[in-house]
Amino acid sequence: MLHFLWESISFQMLLVFLVVFLLVADYLKRRRPKDFPPSPLSLPFVGHFYLMDFSNPQITVQKFTEKYGDIFSTQMGGVWVVLINGLRMVKEALVNQGENFLDRPVFPINSEVFSKMGLISSSGHLWKQQRRFTLTTLRNFGLGKRSLEERIQEECQCLVEAFRDEQGNPFNPHFKINNAVSNIICSVTFGNRFDYHDEEFQKLLQLMDEIANLQASVMTQLYNSCPSIMKFFPGSHQTMFKNWRLLKCFVKEKINKHKEDWNPLESRDYIDSYLQEIAKDDSSGSFQEENLVACVLDLLFAGTETTSTTIRWALLYMAIYPDIQARVQAEIDAVIGRVRQPALEDRSNMPYTNAVIHEVQRKSNIIPFSAPRMTVKDTVLEGFRIPKGTVLLTNLTSVMFDKNEWETPDTFNPGHFLKDGQFWKREAFMPFSVGKRACLGEVLARSELFLFFTALLQKFTFQAPPDTTLSLQFQMGMTVAPQPYKICAVPR
Ligand code: HEM
Ligand SMILES: *[C@@H]1O[C@H](CO)[C@@H](O)[C@H](O)[C@H]1NC(C)=O
Repeated sequence: MLHFLWESISFQMLLVFLVVFLLVADYLKRRRPKDFPPSPLSLPFVGHFYLMDFSNPQITVQKFTEKYGDIFSTQMGGVWVVLINGLRMVKEALVNQGENFLDRPVFPINSEVFSKMGLISSSGHLWKQQRRFTLTTLRNFGLGKRSLEERIQEECQCLVEAFRDEQGNPFNPHFKINNAVSNIICSVTFGNRFDYHDEEFQKLLQLMDEIANLQASVMTQLYNSCPSIMKFFPGSHQTMFKNWRLLKCFVKEKINKHKEDWNPLESRDYIDSYLQEIAKDDSSGSFQEENLVACVLDLLFAGTETTSTTIRWALLYMAIYPDIQARVQAEIDAVIGRVRQPALEDRSNMPYTNAVIHEVQRKSNIIPFSAPRMTVKDTVLEGFRIPKGTVLLTNLTSVMFDKNEWETPDTFNPGHFLKDGQFWKREAFMPFSVGKRACLGEVLARSELFLFFTALLQKFTFQAPPDTTLSLQFQMGMTVAPQPYKICAVPR
């Protein structure tokens, strides 16, 4: 009987079954939860792919935004993502309902490397503990016997010297700035800075730079959609894993050295403080050595590329707007003079310089979609239901270029941050995002930006090389960065 049945099912029938099965499976995958934020029609198998205008993806999304307003959803690589726009909605989600959006989604590429540890990709209790500990420790080093401010000032001197070596000739400032910025985190975590010519240091920076660039590569994206297959293939994702392993070894070695000459009564740096915490923490177990490695790498990554990119934008804007540069220099001359090192307490007396730095951050908008968040539990936002575990993306561009918030959103205009000659703090300025999970390094980053920027402009005038026009064209990587450029740092 069975045999007969089998015989009677023709090949065509099988095909029809197969197609129906795939359609149903696909439909179930694409099905939105009830009362989910609106989304354009999603087609079988291709999802929203058909809507994409590949020559100009920006335009595609623009249409979504116009049609659906401040909140809508879309499918990316088979996952539903909610996108929010505008100051009001971003504040509602990340501040008023901040507790509901605290988690981070885990993509295969991160889980392979960190398995949800550290500061950036962890969630829940573990994240809370690591974050609180790190914030306190960074704050303590600001008060310790060698303050963070002194460490940055020392590094400013080194960077100024490295720029002076170029004798006003055109050069690409990228790696010198990277060296200086990453040395701040090295000093805080490892207890020492590195000489710019140190081979070990250069290797470290090179590995990090490569990872940052590979992050957006096709193979890495493919790995994220089907890790179980991709792990057997060679490609740039494998290079990335190799680099991560090397970086982990580097950090582990540093930790071992710290253990050798560890004095429980005195903490020299972040690693020492963390080792103390491991020694204390015997029950809950979230302070472990593996987590320490992840935290250190997170600090290095989150703290180097971002600040360095912002400084590169700043020098570019100064060379392109010489009048603005001259006004900054006049303020430096008046408040600090040409000799004394800039200090953080100068900032409150320098509204124009402060406004320029803010405008550089607003206009360069280096992390346009912040970092993805994930709902901690079922949540209602603007009347829409967002189930636990849904990915949320914040469109920072929609806040920092909002026509209703800024007088001239598309122009580089330090006036956005000035009122009656005083610095004017703006709510719609949020390059560090907002709420309980906003950038952990904001205070440090703002100190670095102010000290490096003023130290450089105190000693140099930045100019385009002869017969060259500098451009504000960007390139995508881990951040939106200027395209590689050469510039002249002419001693003043
Ligand atoms: C101009 C420089 C910087 C910018 C624009 C920036 C921006 C951001 C943004 C947008 C986020 C995502 C926040 C969110 O999910 O809401 C973030 C997270 C983070 N940033 Fe920064 N950042 C900068 C510098 C730094 C520095 C110097 C450090 C080093 C201490 C740092 C450490 C971190 C960490 C650890 C996180 C993850 C926080 C968490 O998940 O709890 N950042 N940053
Ligand atoms: C983000 O905001 C900008 C400015 O409002 C808009 O042009 C862009 O389409 C938005 N992108 C998304 C994905 O919502």
